[in-house]
Parts: sequence; C-alpha cells; structure tokens
Amino acid sequence: CGIVGYVGEKQAQDVVIEGLRRLEYRGYDSAGVALVADGVIASDKRAGKLANLEKAIVDRPLPAATIGIGHTRWATHGAPTDANAHPHTGGDRRVALVHNGIIENFAELRAELERSDHVLLSETDTEVAAQLLELLVVSGLDLTTAMLQLVARLEGAFTLVAVDSQDPSRVVAARRNSPLVVGVGEGENFLGSDVSAFIEHTREALELGQDQVVTITRDGVSIVNFDGTPAEGRRYHVDWDLSAAEKDGHDWFMRKEIHEQPRAVADSLLGRRTPEGHLHLDEMRLSDQELRDVDKVIIIACGTSFYAGMVAKYAIEHWTRVPVEVELASEFRYRDPILDYSTLVVAISQSGETADTLQAIRHARTQRSKVLAICNTNGSTIPRESDAVIYTHAGPEIGVASTKGFLTQLVACYLLALYLAQVKGTRYGDEIDQVMQQLEAIPEQVQRVLDDASSIYAMAADHVDTRSVLFLGRHAGYPVALEGALKLKELAYIHAEGFAAGELKHGPIALIEEGLPVLCVVPPAGRDQLRDKMVSGIQEVRARGARTICLVEDGDDAITPYADVIIRLPRVPVLLQPLVAVVPLQLFACELATQMGHDVDQPRNLAKSVTVE
Ligand code: G6P
Repeated sequence: CGIVGYVGEKQAQDVVIEGLRRLEYRGYDSAGVALVADGVIASDKRAGKLANLEKAIVDRPLPAATIGIGHTRWATHGAPTDANAHPHTGGDRRVALVHNGIIENFAELRAELERSDHVLLSETDTEVAAQLLELLVVSGLDLTTAMLQLVARLEGAFTLVAVDSQDPSRVVAARRNSPLVVGVGEGENFLGSDVSAFIEHTREALELGQDQVVTITRDGVSIVNFDGTPAEGRRYHVDWDLSAAEKDGHDWFMRKEIHEQPRAVADSLLGRRTPEGHLHLDEMRLSDQELRDVDKVIIIACGTSFYAGMVAKYAIEHWTRVPVEVELASEFRYRDPILDYSTLVVAISQSGETADTLQAIRHARTQRSKVLAICNTNGSTIPRESDAVIYTHAGPEIGVASTKGFLTQLVACYLLALYLAQVKGTRYGDEIDQVMQQLEAIPEQVQRVLDDASSIYAMAADHVDTRSVLFLGRHAGYPVALEGALKLKELAYIHAEGFAAGELKHGPIALIEEGLPVLCVVPPAGRDQLRDKMVSGIQEVRARGARTICLVEDGDDAITPYADVIIRLPRVPVLLQPLVAVVPLQLFACELATQMGHDVDQPRNLAKSVTVE
C-alpha cells in the first residue's frame, strides 16, 4: 500500500492526491483521502484506481484544508470495496487513520470492540485500529500519546498515519516493518511510503527506524521510540529529481524504464574500478577476511529478483568455486535452513521493503550469518538491516513489472561474484578486467537491441490472441526464460511458463501442440555443447508442431533451419547473456499487453512493493 500525510500551507487535498498518484504503483485496489477541515474529518474513498477517487472529488468537492492523509491500497483484509478502502475513522469520526501492513491480533481486538457495542463498518484490521485510537483520544490523550498507547496493543507489521479533527496542527504516524519516510519542507512537512510521495515539494528526507512514532507539524518533526524515549531519524538528500519519476514522453513508465536500461547499467558500473584496476565496492562493509571466511552463499529474493539470484548462482560458483543456493525468501524463512557465521546471505530486492525478504534476512542474522543486500532504494529497510549493501543505480522504478531493476541487479550480482573472486584469489586481475570490459560494453549492446525492436513489435502483434506461451533456456538462459514467462503473466495475463530446456523431455513436452509459441533463448556459440543441446530441444518441440521463436546471437546461423522467427542478440559471453537476452522479452510482454489493451504499469492484482508476508 502507499500512504501519504501532509501538514503545511498548501491545499492538502492536492498534495495528498499528487502523492498518491506517485505511490499508486504500490497498490491500486482502492484509494482514499481524509482532511481536517474546521474541526471535522472530511473524507472520500473509492474502490478501484485513484482516478475513481479523483472523479468523485470533482463531483463532490472536499472543503479547503491544509492537513490531510491519504492511502492507496493493495487489499489484504477484506475485498477492495468502498467500505474497506482507507482512511478509516473512529465511530464518532474524530480521528481518521490509514494503514499499511497487517495487524495480526485484529480479530481479538475487534471482538473486544464489538463486546462493548462499537459498530464496525468494514472488514478491515485498520478500522479496528482507528476505533481504538479514537477511544484513546476521546479519553483526553493527545494524538501522539494515543498512538504510542495504541501500538503497544498491536501485533504484526504496520505503518499507521492518523489525524485528529480536534487538533489541526499535527499528523502522527507509527512505523513497524512497513516503510515510511518523512519529507522535510519549509513551513510544511510530509509523510510517505517512499520519497516519490513528496519529491516535487522537497528532496530532504528523514529515514525512520523500526518501532518509532513520528509527529509532524508545520514547523517540526519529532520522533520517539515505541517505549517513549526520544529518537532521531537519519537525514538524507534525494539525488534524483521529478523527471526521473515521470514518463518523459513514453506511454508507460515500463516502456520508459526499458529504454533507460543502457543508462541504468552504465550507472551501476560506474566507479567500481580503481585506477590500479582493482574492483572496488564502496558500500561493501564486510572485511576481506570476513569474505574469505565465507564457505557458502545463500541468495534469497522474490519474483524477478529471484531470477537475478539464479543468474548470480552461475556466476558466483563459476568464478569463486563457493557453493551457492538460491531460494525464494518466503520458503527460506520457515523451513529452518542451515546457516552459520561463515554463510553469506545475499538478499536481492529492488524496493528494499519486500516483507518476505526482510523476514528472511532477520532470520539469517539471528543465525549469525552475514547479510549483504543488493538493492535499488537508498534508505529502505533491507539494506539498513544488512551488514553490507551493493546499491544498483537504476533510479526510481515505477512500472510494477521490474525491468531496469532486474538488469541492474544482474550487474550487481556479477560485481559481487567478481569481487568475491578477487578477495578469495580464485580469479586474477586480467580475467576480472576482461569481464569488466565485457560488462562495460553492455549498455551499448542493450541500446542496439532497443533500436532494433521492430521485429519484436511485429511479433507482439501476431500474438494478441495467444493463450499460452512456453519459454526455454539452458544455463544462464534458464532464468531468462523464467523471467520472460513472468513478464508475460504479469502484463498480458497469458499462461506462460519457463522451463530448463533439458527438462522438457521429462514432462512439459506433453504441452506442445500445433502452433504453440515456444520462445527459445539460445546459448551463444563458443559454448557449443550447450548450444547443441538447445538446438536438439528446439527440434523436438518443432517436430511436434510448436512455433519456435529463437533468440540467437548475431552471426549464428546454425539455428536458422529450426526457427520460425529469429530475434538477433549481440554477441556476449554465456554468463552475461541474460543482460541482453531479457530485453526483447521485456519489450515483447510490454508491447503485447499494450496491444491487448491492458494497463502495463499497473497490472491487475499486483503491487510493486509487497510489504506483507
Ligand atoms: C513484487 C513485484 C515484483 C517484484 C517482487 C520482488 O511481487 O510485483 O515485480 O519482483 O515484488 O520485489 P523486490 O522489491 O523485493 O525486488
């Protein structure tokens, strides 16, 4: 979910709605706003996208006000209806509250309220919190104190933001696990799930810690821990500007982000080599000795980031000979994994806020493992709770389906693998240097794929009526196949599955029928054994009627007789091939979904940053 709070001199409705627009990628099942105007809560909330709320407000304007809160929801408790939308109010509408997360003991608290004859209007855990907060305020507590007492009763992960109709001076928020940052302005202050909520007003931000309550007024920000002791946030400057969060002439953020990939890759490689040719990672807070002691790497991540982790396994094992496991964060956490102080846990998360991944690293740290985060979001929770971090420099990613986030994660994974190899002495300067040069050539090669995309667009047009697509890959091409299939599911709502090509004959080949499109990521020549095996797989599906669409490197004609469609890729070594091979698949999914009339930036049922487990 996305949450916003504002107090200042501007019209709060405009500031809040604009903030919600920039946070809408975090969830778009419903949206709502509540203002404090002349001693009453004025609010509106609607199921569906923010546009529904905006339309409702045009038809029935809210009064002028300079303090307010807002919410855009990814539904957990209760269906995405008007009633379940946030903000929620107490029974007498004295306080209004928005919430991101899950209050785990809400059933118990709800029963308690119902026993004392309070009527609840929604099915949400949030309304329970709103009612309890209001009772505390009505008993005479100021909103900050009431919030501290409220959180003492709540279990689970939550960020709450509230206003009191009788106190137009302050917005109060509580943070446990779910993200929240403060925007520091002049004569105004902001709260947001991330900085994009207020980036057009201020680039000065305060990062909050876990279990803190923050009160913003026009002129100040004060923070206390849940136990009431004073605290301070870490102040930082946001170094990207508004244009980075806007579409720049593209129809979708996603398309813009796909086209930003050459720059994002180049930025993520910048400054990683010393003049002496050594690899240097400035946020690597683990000592060489600690890294030399690492005898096992476990990579944890979700969604697209998990596929970046699969590629990392190939690279790290190849260059360092250290065994690597890759696991979905949600599975890792609850299966009692075997870890100790010599295990390096690598958490890959674009947002740095994914709850499954966060819980997994917390578990790893209790087992004394070192945790290294690969993350795109400065100040987010996962890097903050990790021992070291490699930031990717993709800039803000708004499209819900990850693209430049993925490519820059791959870059960070290669850098990590090479760095480990350098420290452990398993690879030497020349070889590391050579790979770095190959990486530095990638932006230009990705640009070529983007410039030459007409055949991919034509291919998308041919597939608008397709109901199922298979993706095949081997080696580092296997995660690419999985990611290609995920993009198609996310955006085009088409049944799509990625398989390791060698596994095909053990079952999935039964799915092949006349005309079924099968996208094949062909390993580069030079790895002939691999490529030859892939060619056999392609022949097998084609013999059974599949329509083969082959991603093949420039100059490789061996595949031509078996391909119905050929998409050319720049020549890169097999380990780096995902960096160029995934790009046509991103374009294909984006274009196909556009032609099918879907909302590419906000696909149904998804959210960019899933802050609940
Ligand atoms: C959500 C998004 C996916 C993303 C995954 C992991 O499910 O919809 O696109 O890959 O979360 O996100 P993270 O921010 O941890 O990389």
